Amino acid sequence: MTQERPEERPEIRRELEEGIERDFAEQMSYGDYLCLDQLLSAQRPRSTPPQHDELLFIIQHQTSELWLKLMVHELRSARSLLAADDLAPALKRLARVKHIQRTLTEQWSVLATMTPSEYAEIRPFLATSSGFQSAQYREVEFLLGNKDAAMVDVFRHDPAARAELDVLLHEPSLYDEFLRYLARAGYAVPEELLERDWTQPYRMHPGLVDTIAEVYAAPHGHWGVYETCEELVDVEDNFQGWRFRHLQVVQRTIGHKSGTGGSSGVDFLRRALDLTFFPELFEVRTRVGS
Ligand code: HEM
Repeated sequence: MTQERPEERPEIRRELEEGIERDFAEQMSYGDYLCLDQLLSAQRPRSTPPQHDELLFIIQHQTSELWLKLMVHELRSARSLLAADDLAPALKRLARVKHIQRTLTEQWSVLATMTPSEYAEIRPFLATSSGFQSAQYREVEFLLGNKDAAMVDVFRHDPAARAELDVLLHEPSLYDEFLRYLARAGYAVPEELLERDWTQPYRMHPGLVDTIAEVYAAPHGHWGVYETCEELVDVEDNFQGWRFRHLQVVQRTIGHKSGTGGSSGVDFLRRALDLTFFPELFEVRTRVGS
């Protein structure tokens, strides 16, 4: 085999095209548009001596918060569209919400690479901070209908977040708006579900189960409503999927130790798996075909 000189071997390089912008002294760059200076300077590990895994811990939480921000945006919009009887665009919003949820659930596998010993090194620096204090997570819960006035008080230290949550507490949830949409479309929805104290947790109504059962008995006659019910079931399913993965990661990381936020930990989180946003949509499943 003849030995080629290095300069004769093909270079592994892509030529930059002439038209590619390279001078951003006077033009907007990628970093400018996305405020990357702010975004990428917001990771401030606190451990001393510095612990390798703290950056992972911070970024996992921060990326979750970014996706939660988008989810709040989409859910608010879906709720307004339902209130305006605009079903098809509302479903489009929910389709996006479902993809965000999948991304959030899949990303648990990154954090799961952190061992209990690695977490133990950063645990003291987290002090009393906990995901339990995530305002955006509570906004998502309130938007979907899991109302709890006691959660608003957790944000006394953050007046803007508290005010935002308080507004959502007093407004109808996505599900409440769906039920109002159903009533306007001529479906039999119990009056007490259409005007009520929205701050109170939702309670399943047998009368509504009857109405939903009629939809599921003849889907083709009620396609838009049927499809919306199934989209909502997907959203709840995905939400539970996130909760379950969180629980699994917590269990493998801290076992049965209590949480930084002061709860019993895994036992407290497990009780959230019994919560439901759309009880009638699940209750109806026992009825179908029987
Ligand atoms: C190893 C990492 C993690 C551990 C050990 C952990 C542990 C816990 C524990 C024990 C709780 C119960 C409250 C408490 O006592 O603190 C909790 C709640 C919570 N965590 Fe995490 N967590 C972890 C990562 C995350 C991440 C990445 C997120 C993303 C935002 C998150 C979001 C939440 C939320 C929203 C709650 C409230 C859940 C509820 O009220 O049912 N956690 N976490």
